[in-house]
Amino acid sequence: MPIAPALLEDWLRERYFTTTYDISSSGVENYTVDQVLALAGTSAASLGGIMFRDSHSLGAEPLRAALAERHGTDPGSVIATQGSSEAIYLVMHALLEPGDEIVVQAPAYHALVEVAASIGCRIVEWAMRTEHGVVTNEDELLALIGPGTAMVVVNFPHNPTGATVTEAQQGAIINTCARHGTWLAWDNAFRDLVYDRAPLPDPTPLYARAVSFGTLSKAYGLPGLRVGWALAAPDVLAGCVRRRDYTSLALSPLVEAVATHAVRHADELLRPRLAQATANRAVLGDWLARHRDRVAADLPAGGVTVFPELTTVDDVTVFADRLDREHGVLVVPGACFGAPRHIRLGFGGARDELVAGLDRLAALLPVAG
Ligand SMILES: Cc1ncc(COP(=O)(O)O)c(C=O)c1O
Repeated sequence: MPIAPALLEDWLRERYFTTTYDISSSGVENYTVDQVLALAGTSAASLGGIMFRDSHSLGAEPLRAALAERHGTDPGSVIATQGSSEAIYLVMHALLEPGDEIVVQAPAYHALVEVAASIGCRIVEWAMRTEHGVVTNEDELLALIGPGTAMVVVNFPHNPTGATVTEAQQGAIINTCARHGTWLAWDNAFRDLVYDRAPLPDPTPLYARAVSFGTLSKAYGLPGLRVGWALAAPDVLAGCVRRRDYTSLALSPLVEAVATHAVRHADELLRPRLAQATANRAVLGDWLARHRDRVAADLPAGGVTVFPELTTVDDVTVFADRLDREHGVLVVPGACFGAPRHIRLGFGGARDELVAGLDRLAALLPVAG
């Protein structure tokens, strides 16, 4: 089966390396190797003895143990992958067949829809509605799930809107999947980036047919380390290894060592970045309030992205292209998420860059007519 182009990646790969003010990203300010190791109480010298031998198909034991401890599961239920992108790819190929029906939110991060579509699954979209950053129509989602649903795929906190669900809503989704024996794939990439609330529990200890995806690319500020994971029952992970034997085989021991330090010292890495994102969210809230006549969005409850509609712009993709080429400000046009009147803004980076980017964006917005 053909696979659809990843429009988000097409957009970013052409602009990411040359732009001046990047306010597009779904991640926080990145860390250097020295910074990560210092926060973990060690230094680069501790990596010198690592042997470049092959690693385990499911990931090195210390990394799996650290991930299991942090997420309240056992190491046998963890596979460490090349970013969570690989985890999504492997799990969908392990669990889905042509003709399966999957329910997935719209808009969604491309891999969560297109990998299943490329397998030949029938996609049923749940068009999310939210208020104050929290989903208001979970009943519509529950109504879409039935005995014919092979998998429900959700991502909360959500890229690109920053919306999330309450723990009670999460429980209702799990219960409905359990009633029908449906797989539940929960993309937890932004789990640790929440405001005024606790992170949602991982669904895998609560439901045997749940799989969750996580990553060091977002809240941990380590996108270039390329480490993610899936938490799932061991037989699901065995199905993942089948496919992995034809793709990445395993992670590098060097990468695994750095990742293990990061996960063992997660709180030290996460705390400063969450504080920065919280302060930036206030800047964003202020900006949204000042430009309400041209920019319509809820303040996100989680993640570091927001997905406003630009109500006075005719062609948002053309606008976003001009914003980058002529003003050096990178945003993501909503067309990359199937919502062409919107843009995705990222507010997890350096505050000065965010303010400069938002100012330039506002200056270019046509006034309301
Ligand atoms: C919701 C979601 N899932 C998965 C990914 C994949 O990230 P990575 O492969 O870097 O872990 C992204 C990246 O933007 C994302 O937003």
